[in-house]
Amino acid sequence: MNSPLRIGNVTLTSPLLLAPMAGYTDWPFRMAIRCLGGIGLAYTEMIDPKSVLCGGGRKRKAILATSPDDRPLGYQIYGTDAALMSNTAQWLADQGATLIDINMGCPQKKIVRRGSGAGLLKTPREAVRLASHIVKAVSIPVTVKLRSGWDEEDTDVALASALEENGIAAITIHGRTCLQRYSGQANWEAIRQMIARVKIPVIGNGDITSPSVAQAMFSETGCAGIMVGRAALKNPWIFRDIHSTLNGIPFIMPTWQEKLEFMRRHFEAMVSQHGEPIGALLFHRWIPQYSRGMNLGRDTMLALLQIREADKLRRHFQDLEEQF
Ligand SMILES: Cc1cc2nc3c(=O)[nH]c(=O)nc-3n(C[C@H](O)[C@H](O)[C@H](O)COP(=O)(O)O)c2cc1C
Repeated sequence: MNSPLRIGNVTLTSPLLLAPMAGYTDWPFRMAIRCLGGIGLAYTEMIDPKSVLCGGGRKRKAILATSPDDRPLGYQIYGTDAALMSNTAQWLADQGATLIDINMGCPQKKIVRRGSGAGLLKTPREAVRLASHIVKAVSIPVTVKLRSGWDEEDTDVALASALEENGIAAITIHGRTCLQRYSGQANWEAIRQMIARVKIPVIGNGDITSPSVAQAMFSETGCAGIMVGRAALKNPWIFRDIHSTLNGIPFIMPTWQEKLEFMRRHFEAMVSQHGEPIGALLFHRWIPQYSRGMNLGRDTMLALLQIREADKLRRHFQDLEEQF
């Protein structure tokens, strides 16, 4: 087993991190997946600081929703306004954030155009100034999530060193460039090169889909931790499985019944957070995923997608269990 992952003054019980994913890693999903075990740290989705300090309404409530057992939790923020981001970081620290993560990897055009997300990779001085401002504003660790570079030529190695010198406690690298977005394969060699240049923990991210791939990421790059995104949406047991493998414990595939229970737990958390009917409607986003994972078939999936009431969905889940 790897040595414990320490990020600043925080020691994690597992070096496995749930990636921030907009629209997915909200409180209901985090709570459902944490119950399965293996996760050392989870993240919120990227948060616009304006919506934290100045916004209101249902969206803000949903993004900020958490509970005492939803820890350790990293809040990821994005933007370029150092004062606004620092104030937001302070506010989030007061709410019990374990750490603050600065997004320097989002490739979305509307974000990059404003110089935020991966746009900061084009202005490394500004990126370091912003990070340093936030580090000084809070007593909890501040981390950064980067792409491997803007493009193949313009890598982030120098930026990583400068961020370390300015108090950033850990860096996560998604081994794709901004221009790659999600295409091609993650470049683990780029992660290895970055690790060679800094002393702070580096978390490797990109294309980890199984315990054996996770082990390869650790051994090929020398990373201190790994972060899993998309694979966790398809297989929420992945953290438990990787954790077992790293500790020499054989992992057991989840049964169909466990998958159904997981889906129900997730669904109930969504309804409890959003109320009815919104919780049930928002759950529609997850139905195709669960239908595939449980081999429910297209007809069942389409039938579930027609249902707008929470009680009807509950009855349908009960029918599925009885038919099984
Ligand atoms: C739907 C979706 C939403 C994402 N949202 C965020 C986000 O809010 N912040 C962030 O830093 N990265 C975000 N990412 C990128 C992931 O955190 C991760 O870096 C990327 O998916 C690569 O990891 P993976 O191969 O394990 O999925 C998102 C990815 C997906 C697929």
